Amino acid sequence: MMLLQKNKGWTPSVIGALVAAAVLLAAGVLMAVYQEQLYSSQQIKSVREQAQVLAASASAAILFEDRAAAQEYVDALRVNPELQGAAIYAADGRLMAGFARGTRLPGHKTTAETKTGDGYIDIAVPASQNGARAGTVLLRAVTEAPERRNARYFGLILLVTMGALVIAVLSFAQAQLSRRAQQLVEVNSRLHQEMEERRKTEEALRQSHKMEAIGQLSGGIAHDFNNLIMIVKGNLRLLTRKLSPETESGAGYIAAADEALDRAAHLTQRILAFSRRQPLTPQRVNLSTLAQGLAELIRHSVGEKVTISLMLQGSWSTLCDVNQMENVILNLAINARDAMPNGGELIVETRDMTLSAPPPDVENFTPGDYAALIMRDTGTGMPEEVRRRAVDPFFTTKPLGKGTGLGLSMTFGFVRQSGGHLLIESVPGKGTTMTILMPRDKGTS
Ligand SMILES: Nc1ncnc2c1ncn2[C@@H]1O[C@H](COP(=O)(O)OP(=O)(O)O)[C@@H](O)[C@H]1O
Ligand SMILES: [Mg+2]
Repeated sequence: MMLLQKNKGWTPSVIGALVAAAVLLAAGVLMAVYQEQLYSSQQIKSVREQAQVLAASASAAILFEDRAAAQEYVDALRVNPELQGAAIYAADGRLMAGFARGTRLPGHKTTAETKTGDGYIDIAVPASQNGARAGTVLLRAVTEAPERRNARYFGLILLVTMGALVIAVLSFAQAQLSRRAQQLVEVNSRLHQEMEERRKTEEALRQSHKMEAIGQLSGGIAHDFNNLIMIVKGNLRLLTRKLSPETESGAGYIAAADEALDRAAHLTQRILAFSRRQPLTPQRVNLSTLAQGLAELIRHSVGEKVTISLMLQGSWSTLCDVNQMENVILNLAINARDAMPNGGELIVETRDMTLSAPPPDVENFTPGDYAALIMRDTGTGMPEEVRRRAVDPFFTTKPLGKGTGLGLSMTFGFVRQSGGHLLIESVPGKGTTMTILMPRDKGTS
C-alpha cells in the first residue's frame, strides 16, 4: 500500500519547476522581441517628426539658397545623440548643409525610409514651400545604441534568471516537504500495522491460554474418568465371578459393557495424550498405525454429519514426535470439519510414495521415499489467495474466537522441522486435499 518514491531527483514538483522556468524564459524572449520592435517603431516615428520639423523650418532657407541658415537648423539637431547625421538637399540634389558623426551620409535621397545594414536608419522627408517642392531633408539615426540594447537584454536576463531561481528554490522546498509528508505517512502506517499485530498477538495469546486451560481441564477430567472406568471394569469382573451358571446369558451383557468401557478408556488415553505438553521426541512411527489409532478421536472431533473413510495403504515408517503428529492430524480433521458445516466426507489415506521431482510449490525438496498421509475433504475449498496464505501465522478466515490461524502454521512448522513437506491442494466448492510427506525411515525393518 505504500508507494516509495524511488527516483528522488525527478519528483513531479521538480519537473513542474523546470517547465515553469522554461515558460518564463520563453516569455522573456518574446518580450525582448516585442520590445525591440516597439522601440524601433517609436524611434522611427520620433526621427520622422524631427525630420518633418526640420523640413518645415528649412524650406525657406533652401529656396533662398541661404546655406548659413540651413546649417544653423541642422546644427540644432546635434544635441540629439541618437542622430548620427543630418543633411539638407536642394531640389536638384545639391547639398545645402549637414553634419555626420563617424558615418558617411548616402547623398540626396527621396526614399522615405531605409534601414542600412550596419544599424542605421535613414529617413528622408520632402521640404516644400507653398505646395512647391524646395528640396529634401535627410536624417540618419542609430536603430539602437548597442550599450542600451545590451543593458536592456541584461536586465531581462537577470529578471528571468531570478524568476527561475525562485521557482527552483520553491520547488525544492516543496519536494522536501512532500518527501517528509511521505515519510510521515509511512511511519503512521507502520504504527498502525504494529498496533494490529499487537492486537492479533494478544488475541492469540488469550486464545492459547484458553486452549491451555481447556487442555488442563480435559486432561484432569480424562484422568478422573479413567479411574472411574477402571473401578467400573473391576466391579464388572467381580460381578462375572459372582454370576451363577443359570444366569449364563448375563455374561454376554457384561462382556459388551466391558468392551464399551475399553473403548471409553482408549478415548480418555487419547485425550490425555493430546492435553499433555511434551518436548519433541522423534521416534519411529507408522502413519497407518497412528491414523488407525486416532480414528475414534477423529470421528468424535468432526461430528456425525461427516463420514470418515480410512484408506490406510502405507507401510513405510517415519521418524517424528508422535504426540505432535497426532495433534497435526486432529488439526487437519478439525479444519476439514469447519469446511463442511453441512456435512460431507473426510478420507484419511496413507501411501508409500517414491518421488523423483518436487511436487508443485515445494521448495528444498530431496527426491526419495516418502510416507504420505493424505486428508481429503469435500468442503468449501479455498480460493487461490487463501490457499497461498493458509500457513501464514495468524491467517484465518474464521470469525473471532473461532479460528486462531495457528493450526496450519504450527503444522507446517512441525512437518518442516521433521524433514517433511506439507502440500495444500484446493478447489473452491469441491474440497481440499492436505498431504503430509514424511521422509521414509528405513530403520531396521
Ligand atoms: N480443509 C480446509 N478447507 C478449506 N479451508 C481451509 C481448510 N483448512 C484450512 N483452511 C483455511 O486456512 C485458514 C487457516 O487455517 P488454520 O491455520 O488451521 O487456522 P484456523 O483454522 O484457526 O483458521 C482457515 O481459516 C481456512 O480459511
Ligand atoms: Mg485450524
